[in-house]
Amino acid sequence: MTEKLIVFYNGKFMQEKNVQISPNDRGFVFGDGVYEVFRSYNGKLFYADEHIKRLQYSLSQLRIEINQMDQIIPVVHQLLEKNDLRKKEATIYVQITRGVYKRMHAFPDEKVDPTIFIRAREFTPNPYSFFKKGVKAITLEDFRWSRCDIKSVALLSNILSAQQAADCDAYESIFIRNGLLLEGSHTNVFAVMNGQLYTHPESNYILSGISREIVIHLCKKYNLSVIEEAIHEKQIPQVEELFLAGTSTEIMPVVYLNNADIGTGNVGPLTRRIQDYYRNFIEEYLERI
Ligand SMILES: Cc1ncc(COP(=O)(O)O)c(C=O)c1O
Repeated sequence: MTEKLIVFYNGKFMQEKNVQISPNDRGFVFGDGVYEVFRSYNGKLFYADEHIKRLQYSLSQLRIEINQMDQIIPVVHQLLEKNDLRKKEATIYVQITRGVYKRMHAFPDEKVDPTIFIRAREFTPNPYSFFKKGVKAITLEDFRWSRCDIKSVALLSNILSAQQAADCDAYESIFIRNGLLLEGSHTNVFAVMNGQLYTHPESNYILSGISREIVIHLCKKYNLSVIEEAIHEKQIPQVEELFLAGTSTEIMPVVYLNNADIGTGNVGPLTRRIQDYYRNFIEEYLERI
């Protein structure tokens, strides 16, 4: 917790240390809530509308209704101002839970105000060497629920798998279900096989990443075909390049998976191209807004 960080909590700006979450908040009790993370560069928000759209989707799946949705972006701008982040890189975290009610599993039968928390914090991207040289990842059997399309705050399985990766000195853990590569604990996954780019199709078994969407858009723009089909773990030895995509992660090459190199063990040419396209895309986007 950063001393003096100003956050937005249930309609008010306050120091983060003064936020008091009720022990009856359903987010606290059940993980009954959703969240979003997006980025700002020198005060400009990157792809915020798409993140808000996904937040709306997650909320709709939980049947949480918010009247102040259009206030989120103005609040974020105020947070950037109040925390002196206008000339820095920052991540914005938005969390909405069903609100405070006595403990019962089904939704409250009376109207309850959702709890809204928004924070903007300075962000330092991954070290340049990670992007240049690539990172290590591990695979593990997916033990999550089957509504991964909802960006739920209940992230225990992602936490356990991320820790398993950390225990192996790996950057990410990649989930496998029925033999198929799904996504990472906090990223989507792309693989190159026979010169073709593959990624898992949108489904309830993955979070539909905004970065994933941008990569697919860029492939179309630059006439690179991308096949939205999952690859099988048996095909891993034939994978020539592998990379992760995520808001904080950006485009991260994976050069070592479990105990073997991916391809030559170096960052591949297609991954490099996507990295460049992605960075340029961010720059062009920020210039446009
Ligand atoms: C499970 C999971 N998959 C994919 C992603 C990547 O999504 P995005 O590109 O929108 O950050 C995330 C991001 O947090 C995630 O948690």
